Amino acid sequence: MERCEELQRIIDGYVAKRLSENLNETLVNLTDCIKENKYEFTDDCIGIISPTYNWGLPSIVKEFLERTEFHTSYLYLISTYGTTPGASDAQARRLIKGKVSAFYSVKMPC
Ligand SMILES: Cc1cc2nc3c(=O)[nH]c(=O)nc-3n(C[C@H](O)[C@H](O)[C@H](O)COP(=O)(O)O)c2cc1C
Repeated sequence: MERCEELQRIIDGYVAKRLSENLNETLVNLTDCIKENKYEFTDDCIGIISPTYNWGLPSIVKEFLERTEFHTSYLYLISTYGTTPGASDAQARRLIKGKVSAFYSVKMPC
């Protein structure tokens, strides 16, 4: 149940939706990727948007990043958070194969 709620929150990510609409980019749902066994992505620019859970990335996001190959010249990560994104940046840089071009954090309203 806890995992389902975690997945739902990631699916419903407000920042990811707004960003994809404004940049006219394709929004790819992490849970769909896992269901479809899709762990390789190629594009000019790839962004990963994740909430902060327990001072870092949710475990499902960490597992996904560890398995996935990103082929891009610009890879960025955005962590949404309530009080602090904590170790999200460091965890992503450790797990992602290749260079992380930028890290952003967005404080969500309480
Ligand atoms: C289980 C859980 C753990 C969380 N842990 C943190 C945390 O450690 N630090 C923090 O700033 N926010 C924490 N939050 C708040 C979320 O990061 C915030 O609600 C999220 O960024 C909003 O993402 P959404 O748009 O996908 O719902 C936590 C939320 C939940 C549900």
